[in-house]
Amino acid sequence: MAFASYRDFINTLESAGELVRVSTPVATELEITEWADREMKRPGGGKALLFEQPTVNGRVSPFPVAINTLGSWRRMALSMGAASVETVAAELGSLMKAKPPTSFRETLRLLGTAMDLRHAKPKLVARGACKEVVHLFPESPRRSEPWPDAPGLAARSGSEPTLADLPILKCWPLDGGRFITLPCVVTRDPDTGERNVGMYRIQIYDGATTGMHWQLQKVAARHGRRYYETGERMPVSVFLGGDPMFPFAATTPLPDGLDEFLLAGYLRKQSVELVKCETNDLEVPANADFVIEGYVDPSEPLRLEGPFGDHTGFYTLPEPYPVFHVTCVTHRRDAIYPATIVGIPPMEDFYIGGASVKLFLPIFKMNFPEIVDIALPAEGVFHNLVFVSIRKSYPMQAYKIMHGLWGMGQMMFSKYIVVVDDDVDVQDTRAVLFRLCANTDPQRDTLLTRGPSDVLDHATSEVGVGSKMGIDATRKIAGEGFKRPWPPVIRMSPEIQSRITRMMSGRAADK
Ligand SMILES: Cc1cc2nc3c(=O)[nH]c(=O)nc-3n(C[C@H](O)[C@H](O)[C@H](O)COP(=O)(O)O)c2cc1C
Repeated sequence: MAFASYRDFINTLESAGELVRVSTPVATELEITEWADREMKRPGGGKALLFEQPTVNGRVSPFPVAINTLGSWRRMALSMGAASVETVAAELGSLMKAKPPTSFRETLRLLGTAMDLRHAKPKLVARGACKEVVHLFPESPRRSEPWPDAPGLAARSGSEPTLADLPILKCWPLDGGRFITLPCVVTRDPDTGERNVGMYRIQIYDGATTGMHWQLQKVAARHGRRYYETGERMPVSVFLGGDPMFPFAATTPLPDGLDEFLLAGYLRKQSVELVKCETNDLEVPANADFVIEGYVDPSEPLRLEGPFGDHTGFYTLPEPYPVFHVTCVTHRRDAIYPATIVGIPPMEDFYIGGASVKLFLPIFKMNFPEIVDIALPAEGVFHNLVFVSIRKSYPMQAYKIMHGLWGMGQMMFSKYIVVVDDDVDVQDTRAVLFRLCANTDPQRDTLLTRGPSDVLDHATSEVGVGSKMGIDATRKIAGEGFKRPWPPVIRMSPEIQSRITRMMSGRAADK
């Protein structure tokens, strides 16, 4: 289901009883975080929150702040216009089964074709609500005043535009400033022209300058490196809001070269309408709430970005990143500012990342037919910990799965992979830990290896480089060095179970 606007999605959440409005003024500095964190920690992810009077430096912003809008399985399903994320995953899986691929590369090509089949290709349109208000910025990045002293929009009409007009959050006490936390960042490969939309947080340095936190292994960083090689200015546009499938698609680990708007169009069952930006040649969704256009100048030195209270549950310390200069901000007249916070899990991003895993499970299964299910438990903050259940039929199969997963896209960041048998529900962490403890002889069943790591991982000795551990918690079979008989797991017979169920319900009825 396609949402005409972010407000349209907010209204849908409200009708479904999934949204709480907060009408009292709440500060964008820390207070919204504390409120939202308590909500996100409720069982099942709590409700979405709409702060109708967010304050910026004591002044009420003209733009409400929405947060936790994707922070539960129900809201993720509503955002896709589906009964459940599993339904969408099954549909995508069956589309791809039309022609079984014979390799991973073929699977990815098929993924693109499958989405094409549904006429999901984006289309260019002449006008868009995202341009109802246009603020052209002066070219010089130095002309805007530093953020903390900048007054809100209401007090500044007529003066130069500044990012300070937006209700951007300072999330945690030791954060290096304010950060846009749900930005969709559009870049283009200068060689092939292929577009990428990625979610990379944006630190506000001043009213017209920000950090651009695309990490080393991400697609926009690769695009950026090409511009740094040629010395050409790199056009970048950032948008917020519009259909909730935009930020979701921006976070998915789509292969480099596959347009996220294709996935968004497929998921919302309607082509994404794009408009040309005002000051660069990129395109953004016509129904976005905010668009921030600008460029990265390769001749400019990198600048320290952070610290930032991150999804690892710790602060990421300052690291050098490219500087983004704003040339224009456009927005809807009735724009809603979308935000999230990350921190000690579980947070909203658990559901966003989890939906990606569910959606891409059929693709994993195509390459590894023995895979039954995959879970990334919240405690593992995205990729630190992966549980996989497999239907094991030959020796060392668990190790094949570990190597295979570490070689697949962003699965390369996984620190620990635990492989269990198909009778274990990997969504149940206790069940996995039980098998892990019971079924392993640590020296025999663990594999240590090296590889790229998440740059946010503060535990590795060097940024972006680390080690990985695979644990084979499956039942051991002949050929795996195990010479003893494997004991059966304790289970009651089904007849006794149903008899006792009947007896117990009879007693309940007697009472
Ligand atoms: C809330 C949220 C914030 C994120 N922030 C960043 C970030 O600052 N930098 C980054 O490289 N990835 C970040 N990610 C992860 C990327 O969005 C994700 O890896 C995505 O697949 C990257 O897209 P790409 O493969 O097109 O580069 C974030 C994800 C979420 C859900």
